[in-house]
Amino acid sequence: MTMPITDAFNRPLRDLRISVTDRCNFRCVYCMPKEVFGASYPFLARQELLTFEEIARLAGIFTAHGVTKLRLTGGEPLVRRDLEVLVGMLTELPGVDDIALTTNGSLLSLKKAQALAAAGLRRITISLDSLDEATFQAMNDVGFPVSKVLAAIDNALAAGLEPVKIDMVVKRGVNEHSILPMAEHFRHTGIILRFIEFMDVGTTNGWRMEDVVTAEEILDTINERWPIEAVAPNYRGEVADRYRYLDGGGEIGIIASVTVPFCGDCTRARLSADGQLYTCLFGTRSHDFRSLLRSGADDAEISAFLQAVWRVRDDRYSEIRSAQTIHLKKVEMSRIGG
Ligand code: GTP
Ligand code: 5AD
Ligand code: SF4
Ligand code: SF4
Repeated sequence: MTMPITDAFNRPLRDLRISVTDRCNFRCVYCMPKEVFGASYPFLARQELLTFEEIARLAGIFTAHGVTKLRLTGGEPLVRRDLEVLVGMLTELPGVDDIALTTNGSLLSLKKAQALAAAGLRRITISLDSLDEATFQAMNDVGFPVSKVLAAIDNALAAGLEPVKIDMVVKRGVNEHSILPMAEHFRHTGIILRFIEFMDVGTTNGWRMEDVVTAEEILDTINERWPIEAVAPNYRGEVADRYRYLDGGGEIGIIASVTVPFCGDCTRARLSADGQLYTCLFGTRSHDFRSLLRSGADDAEISAFLQAVWRVRDDRYSEIRSAQTIHLKKVEMSRIGG
């Protein structure tokens, strides 16, 4: 039986984002800048990571409190071996009606995509910031080629992980010239391209408001070339605003978390790979579910802890962002996967 819970602003718990590793084989400038995430960076040790059994057990307790949507993230989730095994375990949970994965695509072979789909993964979101080789390689900062991400997209489609969505973070002076080429490439493909405003997550990406290309600018750029119109959200609290091309070219999305915050409907909780729960992407503190798990707590105790955490949740960072909040000691994106 499910027992839904709501937070201090009456927001239910619906969506659990599970990070399975804090490691990534890319060093995107807006997420894991090389200067910070170098050879001596203290990544989590193997024994600190939740096992698949621990993750599935926690997820089962979350679904009992209203979570219906699971998303696997990282770092890069596919660096964790046998991820399809975890997907299979999560698929078994009652109440789950959507399991998705956010990946950079670098490790998404056709075989992997098929194994994930067979295990119950529904759909996939792949990050791609530009089709221009020099721009993309400068953004991922490890020289990873565009062609391999395009191959990953094909593999996802071939495995039926649809709709495939593409996440493009737009950073001023870096890739805004890629907006139209990206839109053109993905029009008429059924793939949903989503433009994301560069955000001040974490403390290491050197965020400045001047570097944000606003949703309005992005929409204007596209609308001038291919007229678009707004489409109603798929569900309340959807992160991306949807638009469609009037000429039938398909759908795009805009994630305007900086200029048009959407905290009012935020139903997301985030679990880090070491079992810490964050109730906001910009969280400055977390709740230690791993200690509880490993101290032998039973499901009722873990459930009580979750209820206590969620009932007092009052996060709305994007709505109260200011010159002061930017300097808070916020969790890094690579720990909770966006
Ligand atoms: P769908 O399930 O397809 O609707 O996707 P989603 O929007 O839930 O998930 P996705 O991982 O694709 O989110 C895309 C990006 O939106 C993330 O990488 C973040 O950059 C941003 N984002 C997602 N959730 C939040 C949030 O709660 N707050 C803020 N500020 N940004 C978010
Ligand atoms: N701003 C906006 N989106 C970000 N992501 C990572 N860092 C940032 C940031 N600073 C998003 C990207 C990536 C996903 C995993 O997280 O969309 O595709
Ligand atoms: Fe890795 Fe994704 Fe962060 Fe890029 S945005 S460094 S691919 S976790
Ligand atoms: Fe939710 Fe925090 Fe994002 Fe607001 S800033 S939408 S509360 S995760």
